[in-house]
Amino acid sequence: MITKKTINDIVETARIEDVVGDYVNLKKRGANMLGLCPFHNEKTPSFTVSPAKNIYKCFGCGKGGDPVNFIMEHESVSYPESLKYLAEKYGIEIEETQTSQAHKEEQQKLDSLHVLNQFARDYYHDSLLNTDIGKSVGLSYLKKRGFTDESIEKFGLGYAPKDKDALTQAAKRKGYKGQQLKKLGLTSKYDSDFFRDRVMFAIHSVSGKVIGFGGRIMSQNVKAPKYVNTPETEVYNKSKVLYGAYFAKRAIRKTDECILVEGYTDVVSLHQGGIENVVASSGTSLTVDQIRLVKRYTQNMKILYDGDAAGVKAALRGLDLVLEQDMNVKVVMLPEGEDPDSYLQSVGSEAFKEYIESQAKDFILFKSELLFSEAKGDPVRQAGLIKDIVGSIAKIPDPLKRSLYIKECSHLMKVEEEILMNEVNLIVTKSVTQAEEQRKKDQRQYARKKANNNPPPPGNFPPPPGNFPTDPGNFPTEDPSFYPDDQGYGEPAPPPPPSLQRRPAPSNSAEYQEKDIVRLLICYGGQIFDKENEDVTVARFILSNIEDVLDDFDNDLYQRVARECLDMTIDGTPITPKYFIQHEDKDFRKLAIDVLQPEFEMSPNWLDKHDLPLRSQPMPEANFNLDSISAIYWFKLRKLDKLIERNKASMKKAIDEKTGEDDVMKTMKIHQKLMEIRKDIALKVNTVIVR
Ligand code: UTP
Ligand code: MN
Repeated sequence: MITKKTINDIVETARIEDVVGDYVNLKKRGANMLGLCPFHNEKTPSFTVSPAKNIYKCFGCGKGGDPVNFIMEHESVSYPESLKYLAEKYGIEIEETQTSQAHKEEQQKLDSLHVLNQFARDYYHDSLLNTDIGKSVGLSYLKKRGFTDESIEKFGLGYAPKDKDALTQAAKRKGYKGQQLKKLGLTSKYDSDFFRDRVMFAIHSVSGKVIGFGGRIMSQNVKAPKYVNTPETEVYNKSKVLYGAYFAKRAIRKTDECILVEGYTDVVSLHQGGIENVVASSGTSLTVDQIRLVKRYTQNMKILYDGDAAGVKAALRGLDLVLEQDMNVKVVMLPEGEDPDSYLQSVGSEAFKEYIESQAKDFILFKSELLFSEAKGDPVRQAGLIKDIVGSIAKIPDPLKRSLYIKECSHLMKVEEEILMNEVNLIVTKSVTQAEEQRKKDQRQYARKKANNNPPPPGNFPPPPGNFPTDPGNFPTEDPSFYPDDQGYGEPAPPPPPSLQRRPAPSNSAEYQEKDIVRLLICYGGQIFDKENEDVTVARFILSNIEDVLDDFDNDLYQRVARECLDMTIDGTPITPKYFIQHEDKDFRKLAIDVLQPEFEMSPNWLDKHDLPLRSQPMPEANFNLDSISAIYWFKLRKLDKLIERNKASMKKAIDEKTGEDDVMKTMKIHQKLMEIRKDIALKVNTVIVR
């Protein structure tokens, strides 16, 4: 680990205009400097560097941060790697804290495995270019398929000879151990080479290390699979890897989109045609880990399907996974019988680009159209499909997006919006309840483990239950600081329908409410809340209102941020976005960058095509005062719902167990009071949110 002192030195020394200046041509503009954003394509500069604040910010794409962030973003490297880069640039010596012996040994072991994989890659590559058999079988095949020398070089393509153990012997001559070769899946347990007579595709980790291989068969009349891949090893876990990610990550960031194809050759071909934001999932259906990998770089995914309808329909089923991760997904069907490689090679890259641009359809709309056209004239089947599509929509975490889709699909499928909305809400509510149950289960498990004096692995379990008052008689209902001034009696008002909400924060999405609070704290925490009263910052306002319910955060990270902000308001440390961007906790830094960016990242095309209400949404920056108030209300409403549930249970218990008239009366009174307060808050939420 790099020491705090070194980190400080680096952060203090690095000048944003220097660091950015190495990559971007900056012109002076008043106190700032201006240039073309390196993270997205633009013709008029909106990328601003502020030497005074030592930060950059692009007003086109919203990216921003300090010198360390810039290098992380631009070079696609980790936080320590970025620090090392800057240390080198400024000649700062890096001090590292002692790493444990065990950690060192583990690192050395992994390093030696990577070195051996790199050796194998070089061996196959050399055998492709410099041996007779490699040239006549492998190289001529690749050339015939239209791959250029540059592509072969860039992807390190190779050829595995026919011989029984050519690679194994060569490696042993270099001093590598048979055991290591087996560990990496390069040598079979009978000491022969795993890959033989195949064209080799080296598979890289995101940071560019060779971790495995895919080999395409060369012989025509053998009954063997077309491709074989490295088996699972210590360094290769195929469900976590995307072929080409290392070569694509920059372009993915820059275009803010990731293209997903099926094959190795598709990736190479598209790169060769100048389309570099492309990865492949190596013949398996997409996994959550792979989606998360993409999500580090973009939220927009375009999936290219080989042109056969049966395959597409099967693939569509797996895609709800992607929606669950809050990605915007578009799909493109290639013409009958073509895959991306063959189609690009036949029409050329310009026509190819045009095709995928014009044919890209939003996933849910694509699915609705495809399935619906098939079930034409069959109302029973159509009804079944509504369930299917509604199921997909319900997977989308963002309630605002959900309601936009409901609008579109109701149009498309000629079903009333309200019916769809009810269906979706039903599923969402159900899954929220399930999640809640799972959480309780985890908590019980956690408590058990703790009781067994056997601490769980960090981060896997939610924190133990917060300090809920257990005796309903002691509920803090009398505490005026907890509830906004309560007046008004009667039935609780229902929350507004999702389609009317300005910000995604309905009662069914605890995640969004908590994140919204944290977003306000990080982005605006230090700003003055009340112009009349300069002591009151946004953070102070929010936190003093929710201080007593901080334990009720479901999300551990958000809770930690809120707690830290509370500490800061108490000891007077200014709360600034920069503080979080430079935070020593990686999760804090990531969250900060996440919330500092515009909130709804709908792709512009989607918006152009469907002129939806999103256009009239005010910018998130516009109104942090109002936002703070509504965020607090939402949070309290949820807390209140929990109290109500709890009290209901006590009420039931009192009735069931006949513990006495008094208990029943007491709980009923509390219930009435809670409902009154709830009504009041719900009304306020309505007036704040729906305008
Ligand atoms: P394809 O059969 O579409 O192959 O498999 P391709 O990529 O178009 O290859 P060429 O053009 O015939 O050379 C798509 C992907 O599925 C995996 C591979 O990752 C392949 O790139 N696959 C395919 C396997 O893992 N094993 C196989 O036997 C076949
Ligand atoms: Mn192909």
